[in-house]
Amino acid sequence: MGIEILEKERIFCLTGKSVCYVIGVNEFGYPECLHFGLPLPLGELAKLRNPRLVRGHSVSLPGTADRDADPSQMLMEVGGCNSGDYREPSLALTVADGSRITDFRYAGFQIVGERNCRQMPRAGGGETLELFLMDPVSRIRLVLQYTVYPDTGVIVRTARIDNQSRDTVTLDRAYSFNLDLCNDRYDLICLCGAQLRERSIVRTQLVPGIHRIDSKRGVSSAQRNPFVCLCDRHADENAGAAYGVTLLYSGSFALNVELDECDHVRINGGINDFGFMWRLGPGESFETPDCVIAFSKEGFSGMSRAFHDFFRQHYMDPGQVFRHHPIVINNWEATYFDFDEDKLKRFVDRVKGTGMDLLVLDDGWFGKRNDDRSSLGDWFVNKSKLPHGLKGICDYCRAKGMKLGLWFEPEMISENSDLFRAHPDWCIHAPGRKSCVGRDQLVLDMTRTDVCQYLKDVLSQHIEALDLAYIKWDMNRSITEFYSPTLPAERAREFFHRYVLGLYDVLRYLREKYPHTVIESCASGGCRFDGGMLGYSSQIWTSDNTDALSRASIQYGTSYVYPLSAMSCHVSACPNAQSGRVIDLADRFHIASLGTFGYELDPGSLTDEELARLSEFNEQYRQDEDLVLKGDVYRLANPFEENLFAMMLVSRDREKAKLVVMVPVCQPNGTIRKLKLPGLDRRRTYSVRETGQQFSGELLASYGLVLPGLRGDYKTVVYHFKAV
Ligand code: GLA
Repeated sequence: MGIEILEKERIFCLTGKSVCYVIGVNEFGYPECLHFGLPLPLGELAKLRNPRLVRGHSVSLPGTADRDADPSQMLMEVGGCNSGDYREPSLALTVADGSRITDFRYAGFQIVGERNCRQMPRAGGGETLELFLMDPVSRIRLVLQYTVYPDTGVIVRTARIDNQSRDTVTLDRAYSFNLDLCNDRYDLICLCGAQLRERSIVRTQLVPGIHRIDSKRGVSSAQRNPFVCLCDRHADENAGAAYGVTLLYSGSFALNVELDECDHVRINGGINDFGFMWRLGPGESFETPDCVIAFSKEGFSGMSRAFHDFFRQHYMDPGQVFRHHPIVINNWEATYFDFDEDKLKRFVDRVKGTGMDLLVLDDGWFGKRNDDRSSLGDWFVNKSKLPHGLKGICDYCRAKGMKLGLWFEPEMISENSDLFRAHPDWCIHAPGRKSCVGRDQLVLDMTRTDVCQYLKDVLSQHIEALDLAYIKWDMNRSITEFYSPTLPAERAREFFHRYVLGLYDVLRYLREKYPHTVIESCASGGCRFDGGMLGYSSQIWTSDNTDALSRASIQYGTSYVYPLSAMSCHVSACPNAQSGRVIDLADRFHIASLGTFGYELDPGSLTDEELARLSEFNEQYRQDEDLVLKGDVYRLANPFEENLFAMMLVSRDREKAKLVVMVPVCQPNGTIRKLKLPGLDRRRTYSVRETGQQFSGELLASYGLVLPGLRGDYKTVVYHFKAV
């Protein structure tokens, strides 16, 4: 485990849990990827060699008589630019003379402890290898960082660019990583979608050319999540090789997957280079966001477990991630803007004693906000709705044993707001142009320190005055007119990355100052569900689509990368506000219980029996919460591929497990379905709470569990397993 170095051979081997990444500096000084996959015998590392073919119409490196010294055939750790590597570069920079040529060669290494960068969310701990590369002509140094963990199947990569020259250089592209592999008849998997149908799993065959997954919206987006996976043609949820890549970044990003004529695959990416540029003065450095690459030979579920372990053990706030998450009741779908203090009090009275921890007061409590056309930015209470202020309802909750959580949309400003009237220049705008609006709102210019300071102050005031246990940080439109009059013209294209840095600055400030306040991030549901936001928020509202059938798919896709505890999931009312579907309360609960949990309905509309069910659900959720927070995920049936959803959570000690199954459409006289259950201890016997039966782990893994025939659509069945 850890980092092994063969100095003479210039080979670097990083070994984590069931993962190994080997870099070798070749005879020309280029670091190449020699291996990414299962751990290798260390004694044989020196035998690793990347094959090269000689072809016509190629170029070879200057200063060598070697005709097969063709950079386009090397499995590079840096995608070169304009110096013989014709694939997508990972770095493109223009130097003072206008040339845009880079040729980075190995110049040394060091092992470092804790990495230090406060601008962006960073993975902590582990052991880090830094490779130094120099472009001697431009005098730019590139530092490639690789972090490995003994208990996690991922490698974290990033790059830093140090300008050691006397001139300013312009970064036109500054990706976080470049990964070149030999193709093995791979398929490509992405998570694509839209608002209300976020993160659908899309699998395609890898074909020659470049496949680009990106966002130009200023947010990571629901359209394309910052994630790609390469997998064996026959890989499935629990078998086969899967290589996953995700970025810890929340803004416009790009991930390129290129298959070339040598049957090499290149994956690279990071901050989207579309509309990007960064001026790097002499002595300055540019840090790229972290990228996490996972490998598993246990299929997509194995890859997900590697990501989940990483997020929970080495990245997300340790004070938040494993602690009991509040069970919330949110008023949004119950009231929208139509609420007042009495109505909220009736909510609290009705759910008192059912095990709810927190009332989330959603949009509409501030300014003159009675619809979505005004008041964003006016974060002072609307006294006509809440005559005793926020304190009134906060104290009321407390008296009933609950806490208060509050909704904000900090990055936004309505034209019809006091804030806009006082600071019309605080919104993103370009002089002489009208700005696009989204939901009638404009976006604050987060590149401005005065704007960020205003947000820090106003949010702090509320958190302190009410001792807020929770805030919901929403963001309900994509960004346009990427420009800030405060940036000099030559820095105009630094805007969107500076926006993200401004956002992170405010979030980091709040996270550090109020470590006990839960920040739930949200963007019209799950339109900014990414590793960057998980650096500051322990949970993200997964989708505005709360229909349990839709949610089963959305949560299934989201779990490819993100831990279940990061997914905020609510039981909402029926007919569902988005789909009109009617699904039984228990079935809604079973799907929502696969994340951090709560409700989004008017408890006054529930019968007494239904209310009693809520108490049972909350009790049940508390009993199973450890599985959500700490358990291993095994996905067993993919609703994107068949008329079945099945997900199992297994405790790390294999003592207990929970299986949740949904059959979307009832098929009378349908085929019998058996589910094989990997992940349990094969040598132990398990009792099944719901049926009273006992099975060995061996039988459940090899033969499987026969599912019952379910009558009705959208029906779920849940089994709890306990080792006897
Ligand atoms: C977004 C969120 C919802 C809700 C509304 C309020 O759509 O995703 O959960 O908070 O805003 O306007």
